Amino acid sequence: MPLSFENIAALALEMQHGLASHDRFNRMIGIIHRLFLCDATALLRYELQSFRPLAIAGLAPDVMGRRFRIDAHPRFEAIARAGDVVRFPAESDLPDPYDGLIPESPALHVHACIGLPLFYGQTLMGALTLDAIAADQFSGYSDDELRFVASLAATALNNALLLEQLEKSATPYIPSPRSHDSNIAEEMIGESSVMQILRKEIAVVAPSDLNVLITGNTGTGKELVAQSLHQQSQRASKPMIYLNCAALPESVAESELFGHVKGAFTGAVKDRAGKFELADGGTLFLDEIGELPLTLQAKLLRVLQYGDLQRVGEDRQLKVDVRIIAATNVDLKQSVINGSFRSDLYHRLSVFPLHVPTLQERGADIVLLAGFFCERCRAKFGIKHLSVSKAARDLLLAYDWPGNARELEHAIYRAAMMAQAEAVNDDVSLQPQHFSLSGSEAPAHIMAVNHDTPMQSLKDAQLQFQRDYILRAYNASDRKWALCARILEIDPGNLHRLAKKLGIK
Ligand SMILES: Nc1ncnc2c1ncn2[C@@H]1O[C@H](COP(=O)(O)OP(=O)(O)OP(=O)(O)O)[C@@H](O)[C@H]1O
Ligand SMILES: [Mg+2]
Repeated sequence: MPLSFENIAALALEMQHGLASHDRFNRMIGIIHRLFLCDATALLRYELQSFRPLAIAGLAPDVMGRRFRIDAHPRFEAIARAGDVVRFPAESDLPDPYDGLIPESPALHVHACIGLPLFYGQTLMGALTLDAIAADQFSGYSDDELRFVASLAATALNNALLLEQLEKSATPYIPSPRSHDSNIAEEMIGESSVMQILRKEIAVVAPSDLNVLITGNTGTGKELVAQSLHQQSQRASKPMIYLNCAALPESVAESELFGHVKGAFTGAVKDRAGKFELADGGTLFLDEIGELPLTLQAKLLRVLQYGDLQRVGEDRQLKVDVRIIAATNVDLKQSVINGSFRSDLYHRLSVFPLHVPTLQERGADIVLLAGFFCERCRAKFGIKHLSVSKAARDLLLAYDWPGNARELEHAIYRAAMMAQAEAVNDDVSLQPQHFSLSGSEAPAHIMAVNHDTPMQSLKDAQLQFQRDYILRAYNASDRKWALCARILEIDPGNLHRLAKKLGIK
């Protein structure tokens, strides 16, 4: 069944629309999906050795949040390397990345599958994939016809990317957003309007040299925002140095921040640069700034005002050029009122405040993030196919996520482990019973040990108890780690390490 003139004309016209927005990509995929009678169709962008879906038809909605690394998906690797139309034999035993992700057809064993790499010149920009359950669905189309569709799609994709580039160049300076640098920011998933606003704000403030204060509840992604700010700044080629203010006992904090000289105190056996010096020319990320002791707040303020500092034990002043990005999940305005945070420092830091919305405010982004974490978890634990059932998706959408994206990430990992243990073959599907989410007042992870929980090893039970107890103390201390450490009567640094080990932080 060769492509008719009407079909080609319809396709070409549809692609003449400029394709600047998601709608246009969706229309293009919709037309190809119908034209070729596919069961699953996707337009994918190739970047960072991965394929990222731009538009899909026939696939589960969480696919839009997945990032398919080519080294983890032999079919995508074949498409990326081929340079031309790839027709996979119907009985090919290469795992299909969409297996379990086509709601109409949970298992994709024998099926028709075509990959069309999209090139601009010699550069691979993306791919179109066409899948159909009927093994001979595409045999009536010649390679030339498929190449023609691919070249139309490649032109359209290229136009859309060029437009995007043009829009970006209206702002003063955007360094190449993605390099293969190890310092690279992780991607921030989310298409909700609150996330689009946040992305715009980041793009506006990143190239300026203003200090930024990132606020938001625990686990919302503040650290990702900080990375993204640094990556889009003019300091991107310089380091971003990380310092967690909550994990610092007061006695070592000053030397951590400003360095020390040999002999400054017992144990100072040689000169050591502090985080400020290490960040010179780049960015210093002060995480959990609300926990910084008052004495250090005064010293930090001085550096921000005059750009100079002294190593502990030295009189000489050092000049540094550092941009500060700070983050906190406490209400600093309240801390200023109750005297635990200096108001002058607050005003210096919050020249440009950025607020990261809670997961609940992001609506359907929950589904994209679930897909994103599933794909990560799948690759990490070598699960062949990992999908989210419709019932599980509904459950995730209905839950209120007090621990935000981090809680979702952990919930997906835990559910995947549970589902894998039960699975009879390679197809692991997450079902509601694999999640232990409960009502909004008492999410599973902050309940006390439940006497109905199945028996487990004493060690696991102890870890579980520690996790629950620390979370209780943390919630009781208004989510302030320093206060939490005081309640539990342990050293803040040790609490920080323990909370990390238990997966709470
Ligand atoms: N939009 C997002 N896209 C992808 N991953 C995300 C997103 N937001 C958060 N995450 C992931 O969720 C986890 C928690 O994010 P992050 O550490 O940035 O949160 P946080 O706000 O700094 O938390 P805390 O207040 O506890 O310090 C990380 O693994 C991060 O990669
Ligand atoms: Mg953080």
